[in-house]
Amino acid sequence: MCGIIGYIGRKPAFPVLKSGLERMEYRGYDSYGFCVLNNKDEPFLYKRTGKISEAEHELSNLDVKGNIGQAHTRWATTGTVTGENAHPHFDCQKDIFLVHNGIIENYKELKQKLITEGHRFTSETDTEVLAHLIEKYFNNNLEQAVRRALKEVRGTYGIVVISKKEPQKIVAARLSSPIILGIGKDEFLVASDPAAIVTYTRQVINLDDNEIAVLKPDDFFILKEKPMVSIEWSPKEVEKKDYPHFMLKEIMEEPDAIENAIRGRLIIKEGTVKLGGLDSVSERLKKINRLILVACGTAGYAAKVGKYMLEEYAGIFTDADIGSEFRYRKHILDKNTASVFVSQSGETADTLAGLREMKKKGILTIGITNVIGSSQTRETDAGIYTRSGPEIAVASTKAFLGQLSTLAMLTVYLGRQRDMSLVMGRRIVSELSRIPDLSRRILSKAPEIKKLAEKYKEFKNFWFMGRKYNFPIALEGALKLKEISYLHAEGGPGGELKHGPLALIDENFPVIALCPSDSVYNKMISNVEEIKARGGCVIAVATEGNEQIKELVDDVIYIPKTLEMLTPILSVIPLHLFAYYMAVLLGHDVDKPRNLAKSVTVE
Ligand code: AGP
Repeated sequence: MCGIIGYIGRKPAFPVLKSGLERMEYRGYDSYGFCVLNNKDEPFLYKRTGKISEAEHELSNLDVKGNIGQAHTRWATTGTVTGENAHPHFDCQKDIFLVHNGIIENYKELKQKLITEGHRFTSETDTEVLAHLIEKYFNNNLEQAVRRALKEVRGTYGIVVISKKEPQKIVAARLSSPIILGIGKDEFLVASDPAAIVTYTRQVINLDDNEIAVLKPDDFFILKEKPMVSIEWSPKEVEKKDYPHFMLKEIMEEPDAIENAIRGRLIIKEGTVKLGGLDSVSERLKKINRLILVACGTAGYAAKVGKYMLEEYAGIFTDADIGSEFRYRKHILDKNTASVFVSQSGETADTLAGLREMKKKGILTIGITNVIGSSQTRETDAGIYTRSGPEIAVASTKAFLGQLSTLAMLTVYLGRQRDMSLVMGRRIVSELSRIPDLSRRILSKAPEIKKLAEKYKEFKNFWFMGRKYNFPIALEGALKLKEISYLHAEGGPGGELKHGPLALIDENFPVIALCPSDSVYNKMISNVEEIKARGGCVIAVATEGNEQIKELVDDVIYIPKTLEMLTPILSVIPLHLFAYYMAVLLGHDVDKPRNLAKSVTVE
């Protein structure tokens, strides 16, 4: 590593540069050099081999004018230890001067190309290539020339660049090699090490990768290069194709959404999952003992399902909070708390507000997001893309299944960091791999569900009920129906029926009961019987093969058997279809329901 420093301000630059190098000599000391600009004469360029600490006498007798300069102490990487290979390096015209810490990996091919374009080199180093590239692109704006030159570079760099043509400007840039800006009083420093700066100021800014700083005698600014991301969606994915509505297309894509979420992430043999987006925080996640899931609307209901999954199978105390409530709640947090934000758009204001609150408090933030490059993905510490593809209809359907599938994988990921056994991990992961095909079996029953909607289209009120993993699905089913059919629909836990909602029930208030064959099936049947005893009608979502439920209820929609924790991924599909067909029968704008928007980016 090398030591680099730059200075611009009201003092003579040379003494500042010299003292800075002396403080950085530990970083490399086979040679050193200076370049100081002044308005009248040629730049002062001084390069020697050896240690700067052994040249005190010679250097202290130099009379160097100018208030802007750069210096470098070298630890040779490319090019032997010679005066010519010492930094600063310069271009053909000796107008542009540059010091560099790092390695230009593709310097050979760049040098070859520059030589064929007529550039003349004076050193063996990789760094000099940059000086000539900047010269090539210089067009009366040093920072733009640096920016363009760096686009051709592969490798690492911390650089400081000055030019005779713009003598009151320092440009610094960083990729992997540290660059620190020292903000003094009417002076600015830039260095690869705080030791070179601290004598002059303790106010510093650490440049981030892909940032370019421009320092002038009285001001500075930072340019941020935004890395390009590619939209993975194809144009045809954002068209209706031959579907009458985006919502129906997106419901029919629900198996694909599950498949996309799990693709390449299930490691069945090891009973675990690979979630690359969490690699950077994997160690921190091992230490957490509390999770807060935050989301709104449909995503909020996915979070509520996630609560059951994570508590039962990862053994982590989990809160699931609606974003608009979370952002104003008093948070009881500690260093072992982590927060997870679930959002299709990644732009929901209430969810983002909670995210920013957690960032302020130093709480680890994880995103479960569909839209690539959205605010949520850029502001969370780490995350997992659900990969559901574009969801155009305002009513969220396939994204919900992507969220549930991702939460199931997060459960295995965290569970296997804890005491989830290999056997349990394998059981969940191998069953999850079956869910896309199981969900296709449900979609094949769409005509049946359409008939049900026709049968119930005169009713104005609906109650949805479920327990445990299916309680949030009851909430989601009610939301889906109300938001596109404008009918009154409520969801709640089956156990709450007798605490009030039962008063609503009569023959005009149909109930959709989620009764898969799971740990609370008998309790749900009791609720169904309470409804029937009061003349209510019940549509049950039940597990294939359960014939006796037909004796109890008015209609049954069957779903395939699976693990209790994965049932919600299946049980919600009939509810999405039911809501869709009801809204179509009522003649509403299914894809753009009144009063709503796809992404609620305001509070
Ligand atoms: C769901 O059908 C609604 N359109 C709405 O509740 C939505 O789920 C909510 O606004 C959250 O959106 P997000 O997933 O983009 O954050």
